[in-house]
Amino acid sequence: MAYVLAIANQKGGVGKTTTTIAVAAYAALAGLRVLVVDNDPQGNASSVLTSAATGPSLYGGGQPRATTQERLSCISAGDDLLEREQALSATRDGHRALDKLLQSFRGQADLILIDSPPNLTVLPTNALMAADGVLIPVQCEYFALEGLSQLLAHVTYLQETAGARVRVVGILPTLCDPALPMARQVEAEIQRHFPEQAIPATIPRDIALAAASSHSQTPLGFDPLAPGAVAYLAATRIILARCGLRPPLRPAPESTP
Ligand SMILES: Nc1ncnc2c1ncn2[C@@H]1O[C@H](COP(=O)(O)OP(=O)(O)OP(=O)(O)O)[C@@H](O)[C@H]1O
Ligand SMILES: [Mg+2]
Repeated sequence: MAYVLAIANQKGGVGKTTTTIAVAAYAALAGLRVLVVDNDPQGNASSVLTSAATGPSLYGGGQPRATTQERLSCISAGDDLLEREQALSATRDGHRALDKLLQSFRGQADLILIDSPPNLTVLPTNALMAADGVLIPVQCEYFALEGLSQLLAHVTYLQETAGARVRVVGILPTLCDPALPMARQVEAEIQRHFPEQAIPATIPRDIALAAASSHSQTPLGFDPLAPGAVAYLAATRIILARCGLRPPLRPAPESTP
C-alpha cells in the first residue's frame, strides 16, 4: 500500500510544486512506483509532468498518465478542479473525497505525492485528510514561521476533530539564499523550534530549478548536478526514510571480464 504524502503550505510560491516534482523524480529514480496527484487548480505540476492539465481531475474520474520518467505517473489537475472545489465546499463530507478516491490507487504505487494550492480551504484539507504524512516547504524569508504555525494548528485540528491520521514528516527550508542573513536566520529558527521535523537538507535558491519547470522537466531530468537538484536528492533520502520507504535493492551490476 502506498504511503500518501501531502505537500502543503498556505503561503504561495514557497516551492510546494517544485518540491513535489523533485521528490517524485528522485523517488522514482530510486526504484519506487510514484504517483503525483495534482490537487491545485493552477495545474503547475501537471504542466511540468504531463504538459497538460486537461481532462478530468481525480475528483472527476481522472486517471494516472505516464510521464517521461519510468515509474513516475501523474493524475492531472484537470480542467474541472475549480468547479469541483466549489462543489466539495458545499458538501457535508466534501473534505473526505480525496481519501476515498485514492483508495483504488494505493495498491498501484509505493508513494503518492499530493501537490496543493496556496490556501487552507477544501482542497488542501482533502489532501491532509487523505495523507499519512505532510511535508511543509518553508521559504527562508520573513513571516515564514507565522504561516507555519497556522498550518500546524490546522493539522492538529483535523487530527483531533476529523480523525486525520496525518503526521508532520518534515519541514523543508526552501529558496534559501545563504548570502542573506535573513535566510540563515529563518533556517536556524526552523531548526530551533522544530528540531524533530526540520529536514537537514536546505534547498538553495537555484535558477536551474526554475529553468527545469519552464522546460517541463524535473530537476533530475534538466540538470541533475545543479546545487538545487543535489539538495533535493539529499532531502528525498531523508523524506523517504521518515516515511518508512525503502527503495528496492538493485542487483549488483555484472562484473566485466
Ligand atoms: N529553490 C529554488 N530556486 C529558484 N527558484 C525556485 C526554487 N524553488 C522554486 N522556484 C521557483 O519559484 C516559483 C515558485 O515555486 P513553486 O511553484 O514550486 O511554488 P509553490 O509553493 O508551488 O507556488 P504556489 O503556491 O503558487 O502553488 C517557481 O517559478 C519556481 O520555478
Ligand atoms: Mg504550486
